[in-house]
Amino acid sequence: MTIEQHIQERQRVLHPEATGQLTMLLSAITLATKIIADHVRRAGLVDILGCTGQTNVQGEIVQKLDIIANETIARCLGYRDNVGIMVSEEDDEPRILKELSSKAKYIVLFDPLDGSSNIDVNVSIGTIFSVLQRRRGVEAGKVMDHILQPGLKQVASGYVIYSSSTVMAYTTGDGVHMFTLDPSIGAYRLSRESVTMPPGGKTYSVNEAYRSQFPDGIQEYLEWVKTDEAGGYGLRYIGSLVADFHRTLLKGGVFLYPPTKKTPQGKLRLLYEANPLAFIAEQAGGAATNGRQRILKVEPTALHERTPLVIGSKAEVDRVLSFWRA
Ligand code: F6P
Repeated sequence: MTIEQHIQERQRVLHPEATGQLTMLLSAITLATKIIADHVRRAGLVDILGCTGQTNVQGEIVQKLDIIANETIARCLGYRDNVGIMVSEEDDEPRILKELSSKAKYIVLFDPLDGSSNIDVNVSIGTIFSVLQRRRGVEAGKVMDHILQPGLKQVASGYVIYSSSTVMAYTTGDGVHMFTLDPSIGAYRLSRESVTMPPGGKTYSVNEAYRSQFPDGIQEYLEWVKTDEAGGYGLRYIGSLVADFHRTLLKGGVFLYPPTKKTPQGKLRLLYEANPLAFIAEQAGGAATNGRQRILKVEPTALHERTPLVIGSKAEVDRVLSFWRA
């Protein structure tokens, strides 16, 4: 079954009242990610590796593939009548595609190419997306009011990992489903339906180089995982959020990006990294927190807001919280 058939089928059974608009929107995202996957695969053959010489609004070096991915998604979404606003990690401001209306009711937020410092070295990278609907009863022109909604309001989210194979995971609030891109037919085919995250797991994933900068409780957890009492933890850290999250979703454990002295608010972005992955994690039976509350309940106050993130198997997220509360 292809992803388009799967989305249509689930919508027909679970939401018979649905108009097919969300299905169309998701098909624009899947198309964009197929184009991005093709660029990623040929990256060493054509002149698209390396940086552009610019830094983005986050102060990060912009890679050529970042720009290609950003524009590809923008173009694919631009052809859909139902997307009003697009928000990208790469853009300073939201792009208004159409004035929000009952027809153009969706807002799509995305990180076009996550883990871009890994592009040049053939390490897995990804695309993350989140879909919101315009707020009812709010004027169309109040763009930020429509965008700054808590993650609980997401109607869909997902990610694509460009790796040994290209895999897409999505949720529309009824479980998490995974598809693998079949290059021979150019379609995403169902590979895992209703994915569940293992309830626990002895793998922790964190950039331990920052350890002395982490809050005391996080440092204590990192001490504890190495004790005999903890019973043999393993460490895995790729440095691409999508890849570290994908492994955690399938194998269990926990991913942490706590506050550091350099980034006291955390490094990861609430709207296009933490929220969409938190939606996936919870739909798969896992959990995601900023150390104070569920990520999905955080009321965002700014477009490029950052957040601490602890995400993964429920029992392991709870264990981290037993050491650290923000
Ligand atoms: O958001 C950017 C990102 O590249 C994530 O994909 C990744 O988890 C994180 O930054 C890595 O950060 P650091 O290099 O500080 O460990």
